[in-house]
Amino acid sequence: MVNRYVIITAAGSGKRMGTDIPKQFLPIDGKPILMRTIEAFHSVPNKILVLSGRDIEYWNQLCERYDFKVPCKVVEGGEERFHSVKNALEFVPDDAIVAIHDGVRPFVSDVVIEEAFKVAEEKGSAVPVIDCVDSVRIIAEDGSNAPINRNLVKLVQTPQVFRASILKKAYNVDYSPAFTDDASVVECAGYSITLTKGNVENKKITVKNDLNLN
Ligand code: C5P
Repeated sequence: MVNRYVIITAAGSGKRMGTDIPKQFLPIDGKPILMRTIEAFHSVPNKILVLSGRDIEYWNQLCERYDFKVPCKVVEGGEERFHSVKNALEFVPDDAIVAIHDGVRPFVSDVVIEEAFKVAEEKGSAVPVIDCVDSVRIIAEDGSNAPINRNLVKLVQTPQVFRASILKKAYNVDYSPAFTDDASVVECAGYSITLTKGNVENKKITVKNDLNLN
């Protein structure tokens, strides 16, 4: 069995949520989102949790309060998500397969996780996507807009799963604002990306409305 790892990124400050507590610590049905996300990866034996230095003490208190005992190696994050992932990669062996998942996506399914690992083991990468059900328009530089074929557009989720050797090589670069996810970093290093099936419930909780907190 290949050595499976998951890096859960939760070092963001959640500015867009506009709450005092970063969104990953807010509860859904009485339990913090981040705990639900970690539990979704029950099938992955090695878990690395990336937290901002200022949140580590708070996380430890939450774990006590909720009697949360899932073992995770806690790593300190960086300025951008890119730096947070880079810090965590230091603790992943070169021969592992590693999933990187947003701490604010608690509703990822077992099937999506398993398929992504299997495909990444075989092809080197696996990035889950879903269809775009809305109509889509593209805005040109002059401000005009035009429709595009939504069947050619896919919405990208996490976990994005890679051979650790590929990911480490790809992350050995300076940060660029074009790096919006791990696939974009890996692609920039010259690798192609294999797409897998995501699940529609696997939403990234970003704004208050996602939690019905209005
Ligand atoms: O900010 P955004 O919603 O794109 O963040 C996606 C995920 O990456 C979140 O779970 C967030 O906590 C995490 N993140 C991080 N380190 C940062 C910024 C974001 O781990 N510096």
